[in-house]
Amino acid sequence: MKNYDNQEIEIIPNFKYKVAPKDRGLKMFFRRIKQFNNILFSDTFSNYEAVVETTKKRYSSIEEIEFYKKFGKIGLLDEEMLILKSLATKLPEDKSCLVVGCGTGREVFGVEKLGFQTTGVDNCQPMITNAELLKAELSSLATFKTCDFLTFCPPKKYDVVFMTYALLNHIQGKENRIDFLKHAKSLMKDNGYIVMHCDEFPMTNNLRYHIASILLRLRWLGKNKWQKGDTARSFLGTHCSNKTPLFFHYYTSHFEVIQELQGAGLMGWQFRRGWVIKDASDVDLPLW
Ligand SMILES: C[S@@+](CC[C@H](N)C(=O)[O-])C[C@H]1O[C@@H](n2cnc3c(N)ncnc32)[C@H](O)[C@@H]1O
Repeated sequence: MKNYDNQEIEIIPNFKYKVAPKDRGLKMFFRRIKQFNNILFSDTFSNYEAVVETTKKRYSSIEEIEFYKKFGKIGLLDEEMLILKSLATKLPEDKSCLVVGCGTGREVFGVEKLGFQTTGVDNCQPMITNAELLKAELSSLATFKTCDFLTFCPPKKYDVVFMTYALLNHIQGKENRIDFLKHAKSLMKDNGYIVMHCDEFPMTNNLRYHIASILLRLRWLGKNKWQKGDTARSFLGTHCSNKTPLFFHYYTSHFEVIQELQGAGLMGWQFRRGWVIKDASDVDLPLW
């Protein structure tokens, strides 16, 4: 296999970033042993709060922040742009959007360009510090706040609540993911929309994730916690070399996403990896 260590590669069209060096051979072997041990015995996987803290710590790391400082400038990705542009035409002049898990503000600045008043929240302080710096550089009027999404209770509601990619995948437990969706619904105006991106992947196609999933299941044996799709991963992209495993829930099919949406009283339509979601009671099906 070709070695891309320290080389710049195109991660998405027109966005290049340096590949972090990979462990190989014996180094990789010992890395795996350490990771097995981490999944089975470390505090990281002991409860929901510990999972949140480890995820927050990872996104606060220099490696992640450096990546998102550059990524924050590229604006909306193609399919995000298609969805948001289409919604913008259906909404009033003074439309507003809340971006959850905004990082350094990539989607916030992109959505603002489409005419939305925008707010971004993220539970990772260094992400928000850098979002504020980019805001000044881009002369944006957006507002940002550091807090866990579930504790964000603003006085106003939004036309669109945009939940960034992988946000729900980082949340452990179906009930907690449904609470996230219910909270997003409570912040959405009548006839508003939730837009979200989540990773669907049959884990059996990836041996590493499959083994990590089995270890996690062992770790939680008798605790009634493990759910199909739950695993641990340290890889969050070619930019990172961090070895600490993080909890990750891969949706095993789009029916699973639909079930969680139903649990929160929502109804959604899939567009590639994205979902456009409405309050189920706002959806009028034509009678025929
Ligand atoms: C995959 S990154 C995406 C960052 C940014 N939206 C972008 O696309 O460049 C996910 C973001 O979600 C944030 N996040 C994870 N859990 C969160 C939570 N419970 N509340 C708020 N933000 C959270 C992380 O700190 C991270 O910045």
